[in-house]
Amino acid sequence: METISIGLLGLGTVGTGVVKIIENHQDKIMHQIGCPVKVKKILVKNIDKDRDVSIATDMLTTNPDEILNDPEIDVIIEVMGGVEETKKKLLHALENRKHVVTANKDLMAVHGAKLLQVASDNNCDLFYEASVAGGIPIIRGLVDGLASDHITKMMGIVNGTTNFILTKMTKQGKAYEEVLEEAQRLGFAESDPTSDVEGLDAARKMTILATLGFSMNISLEDVKVEGITKVTEEDIQYGKQLGYTMKLIGFAHRQDEKVEVSVQPAFLIDSHPLAAVNNEFNAVYVYGEAVGETMFYGPGAGSMPTATAVVSDLVNVLKNMRLGVNGKTATSPQFKKNLKKPDE
Ligand code: HSE
Repeated sequence: METISIGLLGLGTVGTGVVKIIENHQDKIMHQIGCPVKVKKILVKNIDKDRDVSIATDMLTTNPDEILNDPEIDVIIEVMGGVEETKKKLLHALENRKHVVTANKDLMAVHGAKLLQVASDNNCDLFYEASVAGGIPIIRGLVDGLASDHITKMMGIVNGTTNFILTKMTKQGKAYEEVLEEAQRLGFAESDPTSDVEGLDAARKMTILATLGFSMNISLEDVKVEGITKVTEEDIQYGKQLGYTMKLIGFAHRQDEKVEVSVQPAFLIDSHPLAAVNNEFNAVYVYGEAVGETMFYGPGAGSMPTATAVVSDLVNVLKNMRLGVNGKTATSPQFKKNLKKPDE
């Protein structure tokens, strides 16, 4: 039986999760696409580093061309981060007719339009569910689940680090610096937490959501950004006494053809559903004219939640390749025969 080979760029927190999910959920993946999938080669910076997953050394390489030019590799998964160098690698992959899955919001917020165009020119898929809100299927929610609706408003808690900091400052009265250190220890914060606390990480994610939700070409420069570095414990406690909770909110609003996108600390009335989203969790509230209010909630970062989104994208790429689901030769899904309904 044919095996589909994957090339993985990056073996950090998310890459390790990707390897584990492909291995541990092989039966489920195989059941959906009808053949096995294996990671053939992984691009790393340091081959000798200790890792949280067992990988044969000959699967690791420091030379991206061994992956990008390998004719046996059909899909590239990019979880290494970075913008300009990574863009070059993904363009190279797409031009070599390899499908791409990426978790890279920095890249997609800035160069998404170009990469998607090149993917389309080469008849390749480029999926990026993990770039916004980790394990929450918000991109699929917008482009598939709400495809028939006219979305007019989105409000998101899309940065886990700042939500963690504000939650601990609100509920435990802890100081900003102390909680930031804790978030870094727990691995939510970016290596340089400036982009988290200054709101840039959330702005990148809102750029992606607004582009998809409003089907408009929104750029990062269109987003007004203010982070949480000026928020004081006094502000938070004062709001709390009046029944308000401070959150870093990404806001995207459309009225007719006018769009406004921003990220800023905001007081939410305690009864607002986003006020109850605590710690590193993320949530996105979406209002569509026909559907009304919807809310997507879940883990916005971390190895296994983010890797779940990446591998689900992979499964969708492979379904398209194998089954032609997206408008080619649609095939009915196969259902497991050994599952029983409750009354059987
Ligand atoms: N630093 C990001 C966050 C990681 O805190 O949400 C996930 O994008």
